[in-house]
Amino acid sequence: MFRTIRTWKILLFLFSLGVLGAMMGASLLAYERAPSPTPVMRGFYLAQEMGCFACHGPGGVVGVSNEGALWGETPPFRAGGSIMSFVQSDTEIREWIMYGLPKRLWLDGKKPGKNHHRSTSSGKSAQWGIDQGVGGIIKMPAFEGVFTGSQMDDLVAFVKAVTDSQRPMSADAELGRKVASKLGCFGCHGVAGRGGMSNPGSFKGYIPPWDGDDYAVLVENDEELKEWILKGRIERFEKNPLAAYFTNGQIIQMPAFESVLQDGEMEALIDYIHWLRKDGEQSLDFWIEKEAGPLPTVVARGKWLFHRSGCAACHGPGGIGGVPNKNASGGFVPSLNDMAERLELFEPEDTSQVVAVFERGLSLDDQHLGEVVPEFENVQEQYKNIRDFIITGGYPGKSSKGDGEPTMLMPAWKYRLYADGSPTSRADIDAIIAYLLTLQTFEDEDE
Ligand code: HEC
Ligand code: HEC
Ligand code: HEC
Repeated sequence: MFRTIRTWKILLFLFSLGVLGAMMGASLLAYERAPSPTPVMRGFYLAQEMGCFACHGPGGVVGVSNEGALWGETPPFRAGGSIMSFVQSDTEIREWIMYGLPKRLWLDGKKPGKNHHRSTSSGKSAQWGIDQGVGGIIKMPAFEGVFTGSQMDDLVAFVKAVTDSQRPMSADAELGRKVASKLGCFGCHGVAGRGGMSNPGSFKGYIPPWDGDDYAVLVENDEELKEWILKGRIERFEKNPLAAYFTNGQIIQMPAFESVLQDGEMEALIDYIHWLRKDGEQSLDFWIEKEAGPLPTVVARGKWLFHRSGCAACHGPGGIGGVPNKNASGGFVPSLNDMAERLELFEPEDTSQVVAVFERGLSLDDQHLGEVVPEFENVQEQYKNIRDFIITGGYPGKSSKGDGEPTMLMPAWKYRLYADGSPTSRADIDAIIAYLLTLQTFEDEDE
């Protein structure tokens, strides 16, 4: 009898320990399971919730058809890395979201009203289309006042991640970025590996990003990282019943990449993940710099402006052309490496004379070079035409074959060269023309 009571007491004691333990375990689990999202990941979910993908396509990467828009579609965020029309900096992403248009493109420096995109009887909206070169039927709404400051930061972080404008400086890590993209890692681990998709039945409910706090729990060292990538699971988790429960129960499983990895790809992936976890240390920023530092020559400034402003995106690097323009006569955006010929300058010496004028910061309008450059009035005339064309932009002629409008037009550069929306100066255009003049190859040079 005495014995049984004692046994009971012991049993009861053990039982209460068990309950306490289970309770502690459960709350610990709840704590552990609290999500630890990264800014990019929060931005992704916010963008999804706020309808951004309705217009910018799933994940903001594909764009949807947009009648009348310059590119024929709403821009996917990825356009920002290479094409100037849309975003040139973090600040501009913010401005697009707040005002529906970055300050650089505000007409006469005035903030557009909420309804600035709607057609008015005055035809103002048509003017946006031509002048800004970005207007389609579907317009970017102004979200001013909708988001808190930190939500805005998250959205900007997400959009910026999609633009791919920040990349590793080291060639190995950059290779890793490409391998990860090729193998579809980003489809599950989110854009750049920075923000995972939902995963029902998993420990935290989502696929863990590589740059967050979850990673440290899942990957203790590079050996484990390799194990994850090769096998899609790690031994340490297999041995832990709780971890194994979630790993095996989750809907989306990490694939084993053992059979598809090629030489050097594992090392590259590891380098990339290390880079990501150092929060962008040693990065190349593909945003176009806002200000050119002091450049030695006017031609150098022209070259900088030509690439910075995105002329190269349409006219090809170095103005070589070759960029297709559907439904435009000729089928291509014109090349610009024959600017001397366009100005009716047929000799290298004459061209140098004109470039020298620009180098001194003078206007070609006031020059009297008739003695040195033959038919100089014609040169001046052509120069003015080209200059005006750059300022006002224009539509290329339609191809006789196609029945639609040309997909690309020449934007008006009046307000476009600068992030602050200030008008483009004559000196800037002269600098670009001077640069283009230096690209001409003359026949006797080829021999
Ligand atoms: C109703 C459709 C629509 C919605 C919703 C929308 N956008 Fe846009 N967005 C556009 C269009 C169209 C443009 C191109 C400019 C224009 O034509 O007005 C654009 C341009 C942009 C740009 C600059 C271009 C680029 O892609 O680099 C950013 C950044 C942007 N939107 C972010 C967002 C974010 C973030 C959200 C959600 C909070 C959002 N947009 C919601 C239609 C939309
Ligand atoms: C089909 C979706 C999917 C794909 C594709 C995928 N993973 Fe995973 N990955 C997961 C899931 C799910 C987990 C979480 C596994 C777990 O908890 O058991 C995970 C876990 C990981 C981890 C653990 C640490 C962490 O924070 O994520 C690493 C590292 C990882 N994956 C790397 C990669 C790499 C590199 C690639 C491409 C070569 C890749 N994954 C492709 C779904 C995927
Ligand atoms: C969105 C694409 C696009 C961008 C960006 C662009 N252009 Fe153009 N450009 C065109 C198209 C298309 C034409 C042809 C227009 C025509 O035939 O009327 C053109 C024509 C021109 C011409 C006239 C060529 C000729 O054949 O008469 C000049 C000069 C020119 N662009 C300079 C520039 C400069 C300088 C920049 C950058 C500041 C620039 N372009 C940016 C698309 C573009």
